[in-house]
Amino acid sequence: MANEKSSASLMDKIYKNQRHFYDLTRKHYLLGRDHLIKHLSAPRGSTVLELGCGTGRNLIEAARAYPTCQFFGVDISSQMLKTAEANIHKADLSHRIHLAQGDATSFDPFEKFGIDTFDRVFLSYCVSMIPPWEDALRNGTKLLAKGGQLSVVDFGQQERLPSLFKLMLEKWLGKFHVLPRENLQDVLHDIAQDQRAKLRFLPLYRGYAYYAELDSSFYTRFMEKPEQMDLLEAENESHREIRKAG
Ligand SMILES: C[S@@+](CC[C@H](N)C(=O)[O-])C[C@H]1O[C@@H](n2cnc3c(N)ncnc32)[C@H](O)[C@@H]1O
Repeated sequence: MANEKSSASLMDKIYKNQRHFYDLTRKHYLLGRDHLIKHLSAPRGSTVLELGCGTGRNLIEAARAYPTCQFFGVDISSQMLKTAEANIHKADLSHRIHLAQGDATSFDPFEKFGIDTFDRVFLSYCVSMIPPWEDALRNGTKLLAKGGQLSVVDFGQQERLPSLFKLMLEKWLGKFHVLPRENLQDVLHDIAQDQRAKLRFLPLYRGYAYYAELDSSFYTRFMEKPEQMDLLEAENESHREIRKAG
């Protein structure tokens, strides 16, 4: 609780003024967000939750892309939520996008939204801002409905970009308390193994960003043929080895 309060006041401090021009500036460097929205592939009538929803930009784009779905957004910053609420109202989507204040690492949606699981859960550029980010990923996975999908997009390691660019970007991001997570793939791999989910992990834009999908529908399908679990584990492992080699 003490941690939640201090994270909330830090985020409020960072975004108090930034929120007014956040969408204009971030569209140039929070790359891969539209890729994530396109690959949500949210089924008709399904529920979608964004943890760390910021100004509501992704929720609005996603609500337009999936007009039969209901959307939910959580953020720790009341300042960001003020902007999100105004943007959603302006987009005339208040009936399909619902917001609440909460900590992504421990958020329990039942109290705020009256539902406890979602068909899709996603985190866009907030893993790099949450110090206990692994807890946020684990909590997000816990909030998945049976057969659901967790998607993540965030800064990568810029492994195929000039090292000076990487250095400058890291310095710039540090000013906003943003730290790209070097072992994101390994952590997601472990979560996928625990949850019997299939992991897809893709560097985008020469490693500028990482995109990942954890598909738990495999578990539901493999339940019928448990002997195939070994195949899934081998596939996740070989995918990880290929990415590391690449
Ligand atoms: C870089 S912004 C990304 C916003 C949005 N997801 C996007 O893609 O534009 C990171 C957001 O994560 C929120 N955040 C940081 N720590 C959080 C936490 N522990 N729980 C929930 N939200 C958090 C911040 O308040 C901020 O709105």
